[in-house]
Amino acid sequence: MSYLELQDLHTHFSQRGGTIFSPQHHTIRAVNGVTLSIEKGEILGLVGESGCGKSTLSRTIMQLIPATSGAVVLDGENLSALPKSLIRKRRLDFQMIFQDPYASLNPRMTVFSTLSEAICQRHPNVKGNALVERVKTLMATVGLDPKVMQKYPHEFSGGQRQRIAIARALAPEPKLIIADEPVSALDVSIQSQILNLIKKLQKDLGLTMIFISHDLGVVHYIADRIAVMFGGQIVESGSADRVFHEPEAEYTKKLLASIPQLKTTA
Ligand SMILES: Nc1ncnc2c1ncn2[C@@H]1O[C@H](COP(=O)(O)OP(=O)(O)OP(=O)(O)O)[C@@H](O)[C@H]1O
Ligand SMILES: [Mg+2]
Repeated sequence: MSYLELQDLHTHFSQRGGTIFSPQHHTIRAVNGVTLSIEKGEILGLVGESGCGKSTLSRTIMQLIPATSGAVVLDGENLSALPKSLIRKRRLDFQMIFQDPYASLNPRMTVFSTLSEAICQRHPNVKGNALVERVKTLMATVGLDPKVMQKYPHEFSGGQRQRIAIARALAPEPKLIIADEPVSALDVSIQSQILNLIKKLQKDLGLTMIFISHDLGVVHYIADRIAVMFGGQIVESGSADRVFHEPEAEYTKKLLASIPQLKTTA
């Protein structure tokens, strides 16, 4: 069995429409039968156009929204069947990094409070100097100078804010990280720095990761395997090189032709 298995996963939303005199309901099949497996220590790149269901799939894996049917099995445990109290505990094992670090960080919390709070989720008994040391180590790990720990998110650049968000995701020592378009909001010059940081951390810490992007070039650069999503389904998956250089699905070929590729420097 693989480390993370998605078994015929469906997430549907029902939407009301029409008028008061002729109400209409229709179902949005945002995730519509996804079966995927991800090995421990692997980066799976999930790519597809806007609205194809990438974020809904990641929120379903994270148990932030309930699956309509199917199962999410992490390390042999069916998360979809766990009671809410246990989900809350398990959630420390899987963390997210979002597109917009400014929106995902609390503007009223300093870097120190953000990171110490996240560390204490896993280690509630770490306090005082030991906690400060852990925050310093974490900041250094993501390339931030520990001297700026008393600053607020607005005092940082976009790239630095994403480093804080990455540090916060790492703080509870997760096993699985889902990064949902983590570089899309950044300047192109900063994108490759953050991509390289994510790649290095994933390797050093042996993390399992799902990296979401609409850009096949970015996903090819960072991922071991690529899954291509269209209309709530996976239309193609395989090794990153195979999908990028010899795409089989017509949709992947179109995606490849239409997306400008990011020039990355290792
Ligand atoms: N809470 C919700 N209620 C109703 N429909 C939703 C909800 N969340 C997402 N959807 C719909 O589900 C579909 C998939 O959306 P989703 O955000 O997962 O796509 P995405 O691939 O992440 O897109 P993007 O690249 O723009 O982030 C869209 O049609 C969206 O409008
Ligand atoms: Mg999205």
